Amino acid sequence: MDFKEKLSNKSIEVEQYLEKYIEKKDNLQFRIYDAMNYSVFAGGKRIRPVLLLSCYEVFDSSYLKAMPFACALEMIHTYSLIHDDLPSMDDDDYRRGKLSNHKKYGEATAILAGDALLNKAFELSIDESLKLNIDNSLILKALSIMSNASGTEGMIGGQVVDMFCEEKIVDQDTLRYMHKLKTGAIIKAAASIGAVLGNASQKEQKAIETYAENLGLAFQVRDDILDVIGNADKLGKPIGSDKENKKATYVSLIGLEESKLLEEKLIKEAIASLSIFENRAEFLKGLANFLLTREY
Ligand code: IPE
Ligand code: IPE
Ligand code: MG
Ligand code: MG
Ligand code: MG
Repeated sequence: MDFKEKLSNKSIEVEQYLEKYIEKKDNLQFRIYDAMNYSVFAGGKRIRPVLLLSCYEVFDSSYLKAMPFACALEMIHTYSLIHDDLPSMDDDDYRRGKLSNHKKYGEATAILAGDALLNKAFELSIDESLKLNIDNSLILKALSIMSNASGTEGMIGGQVVDMFCEEKIVDQDTLRYMHKLKTGAIIKAAASIGAVLGNASQKEQKAIETYAENLGLAFQVRDDILDVIGNADKLGKPIGSDKENKKATYVSLIGLEESKLLEEKLIKEAIASLSIFENRAEFLKGLANFLLTREY
């Protein structure tokens, strides 16, 4: 099986488990279930859950054990996208090739659907991991990583810095800090949780985290590049949103060519940190190379 086939198989599996984990209910609050399902199943590359499973796989091939946390992170990511698109934030009308959640359901339901996905992530990762008899101490460690990465020193913190930096000229350190938090934190958490659940040694944990830190930063640099040179149909979201909102991005700060070079450098560093795993990390290397040139 080549890399693309493996990637597609893993994301299909994630999709199947997401369907199993998120209910559709016909009660008085059916609207919230509709709105949650709408955004989770609108598409999406499923990079974070695939990354989590693949980091786990470096240590143990039976990666279904890591599926609850993998799907939980995809829910947190989807919640962050629903809120990111709100009129009070980036005000974007399309996401994953469909109308944004607030365009379809209205702002109040979109806010609540985001909140509900965050709660669901914790409920599911605890309940389903317990069913799989995962060691309680590993579940607790993974929960701690997930909550920290989602909070004020992680994704939410990064989103706050992003909003604060609108219409401002910022330096590279600030930009790096913002990207590391708003996008890097959840990507790093995916990798860290995979390694924790896989019982990695300290040295292995560190190597996986260095890989993911570089990958996470490269991922947002690519996202900034695609907002300028990408294709809205392929991306499933509008381009030019950053310019319209006067966002601080790598492209606005160092230009397109320098941003591409930076992305390449980060991906190289990510791959280099995997050397201790020898051929056990082939998929992770493939993933890094895939993300370097992604067009969606
Ligand atoms: C988009 O993430 C938002 C960022 C954090 C850059 P993705 O590019 O992973 O979006 P989906 O999940 O594939 O829709
Ligand atoms: C989003 O960054 C990061 C999140 C935490 C959602 P962007 O605002 O650049 O993401 P897109 O381009 O809308 O997907
Ligand atoms: Mg944003
Ligand atoms: Mg946005
Ligand atoms: Mg963007």
